[in-house]
Amino acid sequence: MKLVAPSILAADFNHLGNAIEMLNNSEADLIHCDIMDGVFVPNISFGLPIVQHVFQIARKPLDVHLMIIDPDRYIDDYCKAGATIITVHYEACTHLHRTIQLIKEHGIQASVCLNPHTPVALLSDIVQYLDMVLLMSVNPGFGGQKFIDNTYRKVGQLKNLIIQNHSKALIEVDGGVNLQVGEKLYQEGTDILVAGSFVFSSENPMETIAALKRL
Ligand code: DX5
Ligand code: ZN
Repeated sequence: MKLVAPSILAADFNHLGNAIEMLNNSEADLIHCDIMDGVFVPNISFGLPIVQHVFQIARKPLDVHLMIIDPDRYIDDYCKAGATIITVHYEACTHLHRTIQLIKEHGIQASVCLNPHTPVALLSDIVQYLDMVLLMSVNPGFGGQKFIDNTYRKVGQLKNLIIQNHSKALIEVDGGVNLQVGEKLYQEGTDILVAGSFVFSSENPMETIAALKRL
C-alpha cells in the first residue's frame, strides 16, 4: 500500500483550519497528529482541544501519535476526540498488551511505535494484535530532523516479522521523509509515509502530497 499521512505539527497553527481544508482536498490518506508531553519527549506540541477541533472539520481519518508517558490515561479521551488510529510508544508502556486491548475495546485501530534504537524483534509477541506499526526514523520530539538510514533495514525486518506472525499490521515510517527517502521506504515495504516539514514547507503542499503518492 502507498499511503501518505501529513503531520500537522509542521502546519501554520495560526491557520490550522486552512491546513486541514487543504488536506481534505489533497490526496492525503490520513491526518497525522503528534501529541507530545514534554516528559517522554523533550518537547510539548498540542493535545486534546486541538485534536477535537481538527476532527470537527477533517474529512480524513485521524492518525494520533501519542509521544506521552502512561498513555492508558488518555486513550478514552483521544477516542472520543475522533482518533481512527492510536499509536503508543513501546518505550512508554509497561503493560503494552493491556494498552493495545484498551485501544481495541474502543473499536479503533491500535498501533505501536518504536524509537530508532528499539529493535523490531521486541514486537514478536504483540505484532499479531496490531493494525499498524510505526517506525521512528528520527528521535521523536521535533519536526524537520534528518532521516536515520538504519530505518530501511528495520522496515525489511518488520515486514518479515509481520509475515511470520500472520499479522495484518501496516508499516508506517515517521521523520525526515522526502521524495528520495520515501521512494526507498516504499520499495522496502512501507505502507504509510508520515511527512511534516517536507509537505508544509513546500511551495505547493497539495502537489507535494500528490508527488509522495505517485512514488
Ligand atoms: C516527530 C514527529 C513527526 C514529525 C515529522 O517527533 O513524530 O511526526 O512531525 O516531521 P518531519 O516530517 O518534519 O520530520
Ligand atoms: Zn509522528
